Amino acid sequence: MAACSGEGAGSGGNSGDKPADLTIGVSMPTQTSERWIADGNSVKEKLEAKGYKVDLQYAGDDIPTQSQQIDQMITRGADVLIIAAIDGTALSGQLQAAAEAKIPVIAYDRLIRDSPNVDFYVSFDNYKVGVAQASALLVGLGVQNKDGSKGSASGPFNIELFAGSLDDNNAHFFFNGAMDTLKPFIDDGTLKVKSGQTKIEQVAILRWQQEGAQKRMEDLLTSSYNDGTKVDGVLSPYDGLSRGIITALQNAGYGGANKISVVTGQDAEIASVKLINDGVQNSTIFKDTRLLAEQAVVAAEAFLQDKTPEANDTNTYNNGVKVVPSYLLPVQTVYKDEIKPVLIDSGYYTAEEVAVGQAKG
Ligand code: GAL
Repeated sequence: MAACSGEGAGSGGNSGDKPADLTIGVSMPTQTSERWIADGNSVKEKLEAKGYKVDLQYAGDDIPTQSQQIDQMITRGADVLIIAAIDGTALSGQLQAAAEAKIPVIAYDRLIRDSPNVDFYVSFDNYKVGVAQASALLVGLGVQNKDGSKGSASGPFNIELFAGSLDDNNAHFFFNGAMDTLKPFIDDGTLKVKSGQTKIEQVAILRWQQEGAQKRMEDLLTSSYNDGTKVDGVLSPYDGLSRGIITALQNAGYGGANKISVVTGQDAEIASVKLINDGVQNSTIFKDTRLLAEQAVVAAEAFLQDKTPEANDTNTYNNGVKVVPSYLLPVQTVYKDEIKPVLIDSGYYTAEEVAVGQAKG
C-alpha cells in the first residue's frame, strides 16, 4: 500500500536523519480496551509532535494479524518498532527480521519473550501492581488499613482469585505479587479460597476477556457458593475482568442492600472508575499511560540518535534469552477517595467523563 520510505529505512536511523525522514512502527494489541487506545494515541501524538512519522496499527487481539502488521512495518521501512504484544512468545520471527534490518525493538508494557532481539522494555513495576491489588483486597475486607497497618476485621473471609492471559508475561508478575501478599492471610485462615483454585493455570482468563471472567465467576458461584455462603472478595487483575465478575455477582443477587463482594482492578478504565464512584467496584490500579508513552518516545529517540536509552532496572525482566534493560514506572491504587486527586486533578480524566459529582446513572 504505502511506498517504502527509502532513506533511513531499516537503518535504525542515524544521527544525520531528520525526524521527518524517520518512521516509528507502533503495534498495539486491541481496541477493545480503552487503555490501549489511549496508549496508541499518546505515543503517536508525542512522536508526531517531534516531527516523526508514525505507523500505528491495532491487531484486534489476533496473533497472526499482529505478526503480519509488524512484517509490513518492517518492509515499509520502519526505523524503530514499539510493540505491545498479544502473545509475548509469538513474535520471534518478526523480531529476527527486525534485527537483520537493524531496527531496534522496544517492548511496550508487555515483555516480548524468547527472543534476543528485544532492545528495551518500558513498563510499570508489574510485581508491585500485584502487591497493590492484593493490598486493596485486604483493605476492602477491613483486614488491613491503607497505611499497611492491621485492620479491625479478622475474617474468615471467602475469596476467589483471577489472573490475566497466560501468554502475557505481566499476568504472572501481577499474580506473583498478589499471591506473595495474600499467602500469609491464607495460611493463617483469615482468607479462604473456597473453590480451592489457587494456581495461575486454574484462574487465568485467556486474552483478558470480560466474558471469560463473567463465565468463570458464574461457574464458581454455582459450584462453590450454592450452599448459602457468600464470596466476600475477588482478586481481579484488570478492570475489564472486574466488570465481568461484577456482572456475574449482580446476576446472582449481590449488590444494593445485599453487600457486593470486594472486587479489585487495574487500568482505571472509565467504566470501572464510575463503578468505584458508585461503591460497586472496590478499587483499581492507576497506571499513567501518558508517562509510559513518554518513556517509549524517549527510548525510541535515543535509538534514532544512536544512543542507548536510560534504564532504571537491569535485573528483573529476563525474557528467557536475556535480561532486557527496562524503564519501570510507579503505580497508584485508586479507591473512591482517590478518584478526584489522582485521576481528575492530574487531568487524566475530566469529572464529566467519570461522572463524578453527578447523579448516579
Ligand atoms: C496487561 C496490562 C494491563 C492490562 C491487561 C489487559 O498486559 O499490563 O494493564 O491492560 O494487559 O489489557
